[in-house]
Amino acid sequence: MKHFPQSEILNSLPKQFFASLVKKAGEYIERGFDVINLGQGNPDQPTPGHIVAKLQEAAANPINHKYSPFQGFPYLKKAVSDFYFREYGVELNPEKEVAILFGGKAGLVEIPQCLLNPGDTVLVPDPGYPDYWSGVALAKAEMVTMPLKEENRFLPDYSELGTEDLEKAKLMFLNYPNNPTGAVADLEFFEETVSLANDHDICIVHDFAYGGIGFDGVKPPSFLQAQGAKDVGIEIYTLSKTYNMAGWRVAFAVGNESVISALELIQDHLYVSLFGAVQEAAAEALTGPQDCVKELNEMYEQRRNCLIDGLCSIGWDVSAPKGSFFAWLKVPNGFSSEEFSNILLEKAQVVAAPGVGFGSYGEGYVRIGLLTSEERLAEAVKRISELEIFKKS
Ligand SMILES: Cc1ncc(COP(=O)(O)O)c(C=O)c1O
Repeated sequence: MKHFPQSEILNSLPKQFFASLVKKAGEYIERGFDVINLGQGNPDQPTPGHIVAKLQEAAANPINHKYSPFQGFPYLKKAVSDFYFREYGVELNPEKEVAILFGGKAGLVEIPQCLLNPGDTVLVPDPGYPDYWSGVALAKAEMVTMPLKEENRFLPDYSELGTEDLEKAKLMFLNYPNNPTGAVADLEFFEETVSLANDHDICIVHDFAYGGIGFDGVKPPSFLQAQGAKDVGIEIYTLSKTYNMAGWRVAFAVGNESVISALELIQDHLYVSLFGAVQEAAAEALTGPQDCVKELNEMYEQRRNCLIDGLCSIGWDVSAPKGSFFAWLKVPNGFSSEEFSNILLEKAQVVAAPGVGFGSYGEGYVRIGLLTSEERLAEAVKRISELEIFKKS
């Protein structure tokens, strides 16, 4: 059989850093170990029943068996704008300021191709969600990283960015509540971001994937709540996390009209729109009963407390995340993030993602997902407490 080499652009895509850990965890499972996998970001709860019921009903309707309109059904765009007004007091024009996406990932990867030319500069957070890098590579653009440091509450310090980088940058990715650090931004930070974007003509893309998950009574703000945000950027919101719909592939982008129309244009060339029944179910999620979101938040907060209290009680000095479903834990002195996640797997059969996989400023941390029951998290803590290093402390 002939082997057809991949294109240069495919070869330029970032390598999957976590593949070797996933493989190694699989080997432990095959060998019969009871592995507690806290290394990935897949929500563990089912989609709320009323959303599933809407999909079932809508799947039976022949209107949804045809191609759905390019750019999505108007009722879903209206549901998005109602959702933003209800949740954040942000007014959106459903026709011009909302684009329907095949999951947040699709929008995030498309955006650099919509706005950049080869060689253009993009500011990305470090540590950060690796999909930003994929979109940048596909657009043949260049990345400049913005370090997220604990002493700055994992917010970028714009005063540290070089003037030349700021002048060259055309696009910036931000993400709060943050994956992987669990940090939450305040409105003041978003206002500072709008002002920077205005000064340097940078388009801001705020990835609000964990917008629905905030702890200690704090509701994570939307970037669009900042004065003037729509003039300088967009926000991408997915239903994957807030409504446990990760497999359904539905999300949307909201904000700046010119960016929304660029996204719709690229999507016109790549796809028709989502299965109509998924669109009906998404509208139901956004505008139907919201008790499920409150319950989910409470569940993650209890899991967070169980994990963080447990780890502190065994002498691991860790901080509690303020949002998202991740905990970002400083590894004990003397270990790299990869070494420590290897120890966790080999000695405790607990999978944690090494922080360096999210960028060089992730070195020194591991990421743990709050995506299993409190019982399993407590079991993970118990196993970790038995590691030599914690026995001594
Ligand atoms: C930071 C961040 N952004 C975006 C996404 C994309 O989610 P989806 O493609 O399911 O909408 C994820 C999913 O893990 C994420 O962690």
